[in-house]
Amino acid sequence: MTDNSQVLIFDTTLRDGEQSPGATMSHNEKLEIAGLLDEMGVDIIEAGFPIASEGDFAAVSDIAKNAKNSVICGLSRANYKDIDRCWEAVKHAARPRIHTFIGTSPSHREITKLNQDEMVERIFETVTHARNLCEDVQWSAMDAIRTERDYLCRVVETAIKAGATTINIPDTVGYTLPDESAEIIRMLLEKVPGASDVIFATHCHNDLGMATANSLAAVSAGARQIECTINGLGERAGNTALEEVVMALRVRRDLMPYQTKIDTTKIMNLSRRVSQVSGFAVQFNKAIVGKNAFLHESGIHQDGVLKNVETFEIMKPADIGITETNIAMGKHSGRAALRSKLKELGYDLADNQLQDVFVRFKALADRKKEVYDEDLIALMTDSAANT
Ligand code: KIV
Ligand code: ZN
Repeated sequence: MTDNSQVLIFDTTLRDGEQSPGATMSHNEKLEIAGLLDEMGVDIIEAGFPIASEGDFAAVSDIAKNAKNSVICGLSRANYKDIDRCWEAVKHAARPRIHTFIGTSPSHREITKLNQDEMVERIFETVTHARNLCEDVQWSAMDAIRTERDYLCRVVETAIKAGATTINIPDTVGYTLPDESAEIIRMLLEKVPGASDVIFATHCHNDLGMATANSLAAVSAGARQIECTINGLGERAGNTALEEVVMALRVRRDLMPYQTKIDTTKIMNLSRRVSQVSGFAVQFNKAIVGKNAFLHESGIHQDGVLKNVETFEIMKPADIGITETNIAMGKHSGRAALRSKLKELGYDLADNQLQDVFVRFKALADRKKEVYDEDLIALMTDSAANT
């Protein structure tokens, strides 16, 4: 990658996202989501974990066969069997990637029963093996954030020497904060020989609600690949949400002069489809894609956005593909919003007529949480019958 202002988007909805308990998707659903991600401009799609099951293998293979532009990546642990199986699945892609990882922090070394030197050896052998199969190899230091800094430098250097082209620094347990997330990337870029020849990736989990902030901090420090999922789907509190990092980079280009290739107008449709197929509802006030993210109910806000949308909106609903109205009618709504909403429904009222409908609308809004278009049409029909 020559353009240092380009940030690659690596989507792992179909791998880390699908690992959420209960989020299992069918073969066809995975193919459909992968197609939508590809169309939206995602650079790398992590399609699954081929050794995990026959179903995962088949999904990764078929996604690889159908991909148009995206790199198709599969996950594998640090052993030859996993890596070979991963290659068998991704090799059908025009642009395949093998992703191999090992837990490098003290608790993970204890589980794998490898001491520091043995783990370094394992990393060198497995990355070399992956690189002999595929030109594009990503290596991840699982739990990098809780790995001793000197040792992290050593394992990253080893993976680079063995041929890894992307080095991923995951915050596996969502433990870091923005300053630390940036400091680690900066340190690796400064201290590790060969670091400037590879792409550093950030992969954050949201256990402390910091995933988006930590990902952006890593980019400020030099990371050029963000790993994320649609709607932030993922184990526990989830992963970095694709829609949040992409829109933050777009909206705050003044502070973060980096771009992605994402066609943001496709975000809302993908969010809805991922929610439907995973069975994970999106919380109403979720940033960017929540039902309420662009809705205004209070009279002051409604009046403001009707006069000048910038008063209460930092991005346009259309930027993420929302075509519906951004005005929610309820007991906090004012006359201006009611007039505008009725006009949208085909009723152009004189002031005295509006006043009459407004009084009845307020009475209805006091009884109902939200007043829908159908309610307003019924109000107007009643008004017509009574005059
Ligand atoms: O969170 C994590 O560490 C991961 C790795 C497998 C990359 O998902
Ligand atoms: Zn993860």
